[in-house]
Amino acid sequence: MSLLLTNIGELVTNDPAHGGSGPDLTGGAGFAPDGIGIVPDAAVVLDEGRVAWTGPASSAPAADDVVDLAGRCVLPGFVDSHSHTVFAGDRAAEFAARMTGEPYTGGGIATTVAATRAASEDDLRARGRSLVREMLAQGTTTVEIKSGYGQDIATEARTLRIARELTPETTYLGAHTVPAEYADDRAGYIGLVTGPMLAACAPHARWVDVFCEPAAPTAFDEDEARAVLLAGLRAGLGARVHGNQLAAGPGVRLAVEVGAAGVDHCTHLTDADVDALAASWSGAGSGGPGAVRPSDAGSGHVRPADVGPGVGQPADGGSGDVRRFDVGPRAGLGTVATLLPAVEFSTRSPYPDARRLLAAGVPVALATDCNPGSGYSSSMPFVVALAVREMRMSPAAALWSATAGGAAALRRDDVGHLGVGARADLTVLDAPSHTYLSYRPGVPLVHQVWQAGTRAV
Ligand code: NIG
Ligand code: FE
Repeated sequence: MSLLLTNIGELVTNDPAHGGSGPDLTGGAGFAPDGIGIVPDAAVVLDEGRVAWTGPASSAPAADDVVDLAGRCVLPGFVDSHSHTVFAGDRAAEFAARMTGEPYTGGGIATTVAATRAASEDDLRARGRSLVREMLAQGTTTVEIKSGYGQDIATEARTLRIARELTPETTYLGAHTVPAEYADDRAGYIGLVTGPMLAACAPHARWVDVFCEPAAPTAFDEDEARAVLLAGLRAGLGARVHGNQLAAGPGVRLAVEVGAAGVDHCTHLTDADVDALAASWSGAGSGGPGAVRPSDAGSGHVRPADVGPGVGQPADGGSGDVRRFDVGPRAGLGTVATLLPAVEFSTRSPYPDARRLLAAGVPVALATDCNPGSGYSSSMPFVVALAVREMRMSPAAALWSATAGGAAALRRDDVGHLGVGARADLTVLDAPSHTYLSYRPGVPLVHQVWQAGTRAV
């Protein structure tokens, strides 16, 4: 059953067929963040959960059903590639203290760990579902969710089981911080994270992550972080890194070294870090033996059991298993710099230098990092507005980073764009153009959301 969405005032596709740079950063065409593939006065045909046609409304093919969007703007659904949405507890007081002068150190993570360990599975699931619904209502159709507030085997595994009901993009972050009971035995905690905890969590995870931040006493140094990432890679997970949030450090270097899909925060970068990120993409495009295309990575969907519609939830069935894939230096894909400006907003910190990364040719993703401590916003429109206003990204570059950039950070080529064959994930704005996301900050502009061809909002 095909569906024609027509009378679209501005359609953003990110599709090279319409002048976009597309989600495929390996094609050798170079990174063109302003190439977002805009089609004015457009239409889209959806069929079998996929995009079947895009172009001028005047030449749209016939379809079984028609929806008139009355001149509104249509975007690819947002891809939020970094969140911590399964947790318990509340840290509003910590936020209030920060707003009157306390610095953010990451120390409050222990508060959430205690609350999450004590929470029931049902409570954790309810919180996770409600945040994911909140994201969907704001136009996010794919989300990544991390563990990291358990820091013991049972709670990490429980968090990932719940996250897996909500999205196939689940990340094992046992190495978020060293929990209090291991304060005098860091090596013991690394042994747990790389041993029995990994064994319990890997079946529910696609990615492994580590908070590599020597400036934070409870986070991990370079050697510890390397051990965590290599163990995860050996277990078949892809690598991602929290790095360079509080100070310059080894996070970016390590992420590039292990072929991580993304290094997130990137607030404090040296020239060498920027060069390493850019170099991770040079030579990409040739693929070659062992190269893994994002389509391989994105195809092995998990079908969530009996939860309601989630974000990033596949509609096309699945094997019940996430396909393992080779993510290392041989993967043929570089490391995306993922910026999380809602964290700088909520910790009152200097914003990362997005323009420096873009000027160096580094693909940039934008994500919320939705978590109870450093930034509790679930809103990609808010993140886009911050990126434009505070980081001086153009509205087009910010939109690319919030869609195709996020997809690249998750090594997915089925989302983040509206090329023919893409998953039919679309966000309809009650506005004539994508610029309104930053031109009208804080205004609930999301009018409809389509997920895999089905109206979700
Ligand atoms: O991505 N940087 C480390 N982890 C989270 C913060 C978690 C917290 O403060 O609870 C982040 O910002
Ligand atoms: Fe985070």
